[in-house]
Amino acid sequence: MKICMIGAGYVGLVSAACFSEFGFDVTCVDNNPERLKQMEEGRSPIYEPGLDDLMARNIAAGRLRFSGDLGPAVKAADIVFLAVGTPMRRGDGHADLSYVYGAVEELAPYLDGFTVITTKSTVPVGTSREIQRRLAALRPDAEYAVCSNPEFLREGSAIQDFTHPDRVLVGLDDARAQEVMEKLYKPLSIRNAPVMFVSRESAELAKYAANAFLALKISFINEIADLCEEVGANVQEVASAIGKDRRIGDKFLHPGPGYGGSCFPKDVSAIIRTARESKSPLSIIEQVQIVNDERKIAMAGRIVKAANGSVRDKTIAVLGVTFKPNTDDMRDAPSLVIVPMLQERGATVRVYDPQGQKQAEPLLPGVTWCADANDAILGADVAVVLTEWNEFRALDLKAARARMSGDVLVDLRNIFSADAARAAGLRYHSIGRPV
Ligand code: NAD
Ligand code: UGA
Repeated sequence: MKICMIGAGYVGLVSAACFSEFGFDVTCVDNNPERLKQMEEGRSPIYEPGLDDLMARNIAAGRLRFSGDLGPAVKAADIVFLAVGTPMRRGDGHADLSYVYGAVEELAPYLDGFTVITTKSTVPVGTSREIQRRLAALRPDAEYAVCSNPEFLREGSAIQDFTHPDRVLVGLDDARAQEVMEKLYKPLSIRNAPVMFVSRESAELAKYAANAFLALKISFINEIADLCEEVGANVQEVASAIGKDRRIGDKFLHPGPGYGGSCFPKDVSAIIRTARESKSPLSIIEQVQIVNDERKIAMAGRIVKAANGSVRDKTIAVLGVTFKPNTDDMRDAPSLVIVPMLQERGATVRVYDPQGQKQAEPLLPGVTWCADANDAILGADVAVVLTEWNEFRALDLKAARARMSGDVLVDLRNIFSADAARAAGLRYHSIGRPV
């Protein structure tokens, strides 16, 4: 079976590499010349653990290739995936579908023989139907079916998530397409991964509902963490206790500086728009969006408070700026709100991130980039953990204190213990735990 993957980003490239690992023949098409050049040289343009090796293996086996020209790849394909971006649209906060419809227009002339065209991008309910309507106008002669196959992988653990999914979700209304999709996901269903066939509308909405629910769970625990601080409880104990209840579950109950990333913020915004347009508003999710936006601002305030009320002329070391560890992705990272607020209040900011510097440099002007965590904290009045990269967990806090001018450690990811920080002579602030 031949696959054409249009869009080689965090989702498209990982999906393409994993499908080729299953033994399928995959051509990955991208129109970004810089990304394409790197991939043609066998290098991943994004940081995702394990991806370089997976690509190398399948390129060498002749199952995975890259191209800037979608014509031949679409012509040969049994399945064409649309994995292009669906960012937040400026102005109204809905999903910007211009890349999706742009790709549909580009691919239409090349459809040849029965082809399954499926969105992997996260798209609002009704998009598959609209793609079908557009294709019917562009290619009334072509044989195709339009499906929705949303992706649930997380950055940083994308390959594991793709190859060991909780479920694969396929929305379709065509028997021939179902046969093709069953064959495609056989390598997973054979290992007992549930492959669910539902309507296209259900698949499209389920993707947004899942992300909105996870965002809600994070905002919930963030507010519980704030309450813990006021009443002397420990959010880790509370989260662990409620998480034991299988109706609640123990995942996504880590408090932090607010969720970020390329998906939760834009998908929460888009589902709010869909719901309002459908006259069925999601008032809880609207509140989640407000709470999360406010949280990032509150975190900057928390750092200022920890620095005795002012960061003017102080040096702040920021450890980690990506929206989560194990990615270089800076989209909607909380650091993009917090760091500029510290700078506006007169702080000098020194930053270290294990993978994020390249993407972050143009987004965080005026900071000093450091070679590692020890370099970043040198001479700092305050050290702040913004992203929980594993290498920060091993930091020798006594040695860190000795390198700092001040003694304040603000741990917005709860990676250290209060006792260890105190023993190192640090004034320690974390989230939702007794000081
Ligand atoms: P991305 O921006 O990293 O990648 C999109 C790629 O598509 C880019 O490389 C771009 O050059 C390419 N592209 C755009 N138009 C094209 C065209 N006409 N022809 C060829 N290439 C084209 O985006 P992403 O993070 O991979 O997200 C893609 C979609 O997947 C989004 O809808 C997102 O919501 C969804 N999604 C993302 C994740 C994630 O972890 N990032 C997880 C699940 C779902
Ligand atoms: C998220 C979902 O987890 C994926 O299932 C989904 O496919 C993807 O969005 C998408 O649609 O793009 P991702 O954004 O890669 O994946 O990363 P997450 O691990 O979900 O983290 C998102 C944000 O929430 C991060 O800023 C993270 O720090 C924060 N978070 C997560 C918390 O603050 N607490 C938690 O307990 C979990």
